[in-house]
Amino acid sequence: MNSSLRSLILIAASTASFTAFAEPGENTYKQVCAACHGSGVLNAPKLGDKAKWAPLIAEGQATLTAHAYVGVRGMPAKGGNPNLTVEGFSDAVAYMANKAGGNWKTPDAKTLAAINKEIEARKAGLNKKP
Ligand code: HEC
Repeated sequence: MNSSLRSLILIAASTASFTAFAEPGENTYKQVCAACHGSGVLNAPKLGDKAKWAPLIAEGQATLTAHAYVGVRGMPAKGGNPNLTVEGFSDAVAYMANKAGGNWKTPDAKTLAAINKEIEARKAGLNKKP
């Protein structure tokens, strides 16, 4: 193997491992959420702003994820991307929570069920309001 081929392989390998270690939710955050949560558009809680995120993290993963997914005040449902699944959205919320001191994981089946239940409850509650 000549040396330029060897360095090509090294570059390919390091790129691959970088992708593998990207945190879940990071890509969705960058593609969908950063537009507002990066700079705090409309008072969106900024990435890494611990003071803003602490009370949100305290709501718990299922509640906060569900409320944001349905939409709350300036926060558009699904972050404004109708194709975003609950799973993809949950990872993006966890990514932001963790950047502000949280320790949330990709939701397991039980947490996902709790998120979906809260989404339904929230929708029902919202629909009842005048
Ligand atoms: C168009 C701008 C915008 C985009 C895009 C956006 N958000 Fe938000 N988000 C907001 C604003 C504004 C708030 C603050 C709402 C309030 O409290 O008035 C917010 C609040 C939140 C909250 C806290 C909800 C609560 O209960 O107070 C979470 C969690 C959240 N966003 C997650 C996300 C995720 C995840 C994405 C990407 C998938 C995203 N947002 C994309 C504007 C946005």
